[in-house]
Amino acid sequence: MTLTATSGHATGQAAPVAARADQVWKVYGSGEAEVTALRGVSVSLERGAFTAIMGPSGSGKSTLMHCLAGLDSVSRGTVHIGRTKVTGLGDKALTRVRRDQVGFIFQQFNLLPTLTAEENITLPLTIAGRRPDRTWFDTVVDTVGLRNRLRHRPAQLSGGQQQRVACARALVARPEVIFADEPTGSLDSRSGAEVLGFLRDSVHRFGQTIVMVTHDPVAAAYADRVVFLADGALVSELHAPTADSVLDTMRRLDAGV
Ligand SMILES: Nc1ncnc2c1ncn2[C@@H]1O[C@H](COP(=O)(O)OP(=O)(O)OP(=O)(O)O)[C@@H](O)[C@H]1O
Ligand SMILES: [Mg+2]
Repeated sequence: MTLTATSGHATGQAAPVAARADQVWKVYGSGEAEVTALRGVSVSLERGAFTAIMGPSGSGKSTLMHCLAGLDSVSRGTVHIGRTKVTGLGDKALTRVRRDQVGFIFQQFNLLPTLTAEENITLPLTIAGRRPDRTWFDTVVDTVGLRNRLRHRPAQLSGGQQQRVACARALVARPEVIFADEPTGSLDSRSGAEVLGFLRDSVHRFGQTIVMVTHDPVAAAYADRVVFLADGALVSELHAPTADSVLDTMRRLDAGV
C-alpha cells in the first residue's frame, strides 16, 4: 500500500513535504539471521503536520523512523528530508542534515546530566556553532513552562519536566522534522498529556512538523494523522484520529480484516 499526502510531485512542483520515504526496504543481518524490517514502505509527511506511527512490537516503527531521520541507511528505496535526498549522502553531509534539519525526542529524555536545563536546550545550537534566537528561545521556554527551572540539572527535575526540556531542545533549532520515539513511554498520564499537548501546540501554532511513534491510542489521538505498520508494511491510516477510532483500527488489523 502506498500512502501519499499530496499530489505535488506528480506535477513536478515542490511538494509541502517535510520527509518522504519511497519504496523503502530495510534488511538487517544476513543468512539465517536476516530480518526484513521494512518491505517497500512509501509515506509522505506533510510539512506542519503531526503524524503518529503505530503498529505491533517488531512491526518496524523505530526502523522506519530511523530511516526517515537519516540515522540508519536503507537497503533499497529513497528517503528525502525537505528537498534533500538523504539516501546515498556521504557521512559528512549526512551529519550536517541530522544536525541542521532533524530534531529527536527519545523515551529516556537523553539529557546531559552535568548541564542545566538551559544548557541542554541550547546544546544542539552550540554544537552547530549557531546562536540561539533569544525571542524564539523565550517563546519555547514559556510554551513548555520551564521558565523557573532553567538553572536546574536533569536530576533536579521531574520526568515530565525532563521530557519538556527534551522537547524544547528539539524545537529551539527549528528543524525540518522532529522525530519522537515513544516520547511519553516513561511518563505518568498527566505528564504525558502535558508533553503531548505541547507537541500538538508546536505543530498548530508554530508550524513544526512532528512524527511520533507510540503504542498508546490516547497519545496517537493528539496527532493529525496516524499511519499503521504491520510486519514492515503500511497497512492503514486515519486522519483526525480519536482514541476510539485508533482502537477500532488496531482491533480490525489484529483480527486481520
Ligand atoms: N539492529 C538490528 N539488527 C537486526 N534486527 C533488527 C535490528 N533492529 C531491529 N531489528 C528487527 O527489525 C524488526 C523491526 O524492529 P523495530 O525496532 O523497528 O520494531 P518496532 O515496531 O519499533 O517495535 P517496538 O514497538 O517493540 O519498539 C524486528 O523484528 C527487530 O527484531
Ligand atoms: Mg520501537
